[in-house]
Amino acid sequence: MAAKNILVTGGTGYIGSHTVLQLLQEGFRVVAVDSLYNSSEVAINRVAELAGDAKKNLVFEQVDLRDREALNKVFASTKFDAVIHFAGLKAVGESVQRPLLYYNNNLIGTITLLEVMAAHGCKNFIFSSSATVYGWPKQVPCTEEFPLSAANVYGRTKLIIEDMCRDIHKSDSDWNIIFLRYFNPVGAHPSGEIGEDPRGIPNNLMPFVQQVAVGRRPALTVYGSDYSTKDGTGVRDYIHILDLADGHLAALKKLFQDKSIGCEVYNLGTGKGTSVLEMVAAFEKASGKKIPLIMADRRPGDAEIVYASTEKAEQELNWRAKYGIEEMCRDQWNWASKNPYGYEAAESES
Ligand code: NAD
Ligand code: WQD
Repeated sequence: MAAKNILVTGGTGYIGSHTVLQLLQEGFRVVAVDSLYNSSEVAINRVAELAGDAKKNLVFEQVDLRDREALNKVFASTKFDAVIHFAGLKAVGESVQRPLLYYNNNLIGTITLLEVMAAHGCKNFIFSSSATVYGWPKQVPCTEEFPLSAANVYGRTKLIIEDMCRDIHKSDSDWNIIFLRYFNPVGAHPSGEIGEDPRGIPNNLMPFVQQVAVGRRPALTVYGSDYSTKDGTGVRDYIHILDLADGHLAALKKLFQDKSIGCEVYNLGTGKGTSVLEMVAAFEKASGKKIPLIMADRRPGDAEIVYASTEKAEQELNWRAKYGIEEMCRDQWNWASKNPYGYEAAESES
């Protein structure tokens, strides 16, 4: 059987690059597109190196999804069996400061993509949604049936895209759509060659911790120590990036096997809650580095405890996370110690 062709948008980004590698390792042919707005081409070059012989099955194109002409060319060059759509802006604080940037990029990018897909007869779609659509959950674990709400502009773009997809499927049942709601992806590929490399000051916990460990920042500010949690700090469901990438392979399999899937949603998390202080302790153990802490007020907008119900993904995708926080911190530190400034050093060499 001929290898299936997958278009991966946002393919040079953190989750995209790890997923592209797993797709290549599983024998898929991949076209990755990215505007490089929040990522480096070095990432996809490293993915190609890690893929060995399978690198012949990888093409990268620098394309902004809002550029319809460029996207049409990509679809004219290859008949895609499915699209995995990671491309989007994701910084929560920035989304509140610059709503139009987020609505323009995330919504127009996705609408253009869906229109071009329909025009070329590709109606298999996997979308990166987020646990942010659960807003401030009243109870945990979060199941896929929980009420949805937007806690910020970024979250609203995810909700709008989910709604748009539900409407598209209602109007045309040829579409097969899966939303994957990610919890908190962390860690890196065990090779230490690819990992998360945010531009500017990191918003998320683990990229910040990693920058403290390599000496780029003096201390971690812990946002809130008066929550009703085991140690007073916020609790989240951290998931190893390898497990997360693997969830996409499971979703793709489902999409190809179950032609009547319609429009479905799955959480990708571990089902376990870990506090900020537990995560810091695990990272200190893995790295042998002390992370100085500054205890501060709660960050506005933060939920207290968020973790996933993983039952649906386990039952219907036959997928479950394999790794714990020790492996997440070990692999995050391996990436950080090999690439203290992310892809920057490799960028300046090329
Ligand atoms: P990332 O920023 O590393 O990757 C996203 C990529 O999309 C970047 O490489 C960026 O350059 C590209 N991009 C943005 N707008 C584009 C456009 N208009 N055209 C082409 N490329 C564009 O982020 P990530 O962590 O890999 O996240 C991937 C997806 O998963 C995003 O949609 C994000 O919202 C979602 N998500 C991420 C997390 C997380 O914590 N990392 C959690 C839940 C959901
Ligand atoms: C985790 C915990 C913070 C930074 C965000 C998005 C969500 C999703 C994942 C995309 C919280 C605490 C953090 C720091 C800290 N992304 N913290 N000091 O807020 O769960 O989710 O990323 O979809 O939409 O909202 O992740 O990593 O920012 O925070 O104390 O410098 O770490 O308060 O308890 P969050 P996070």
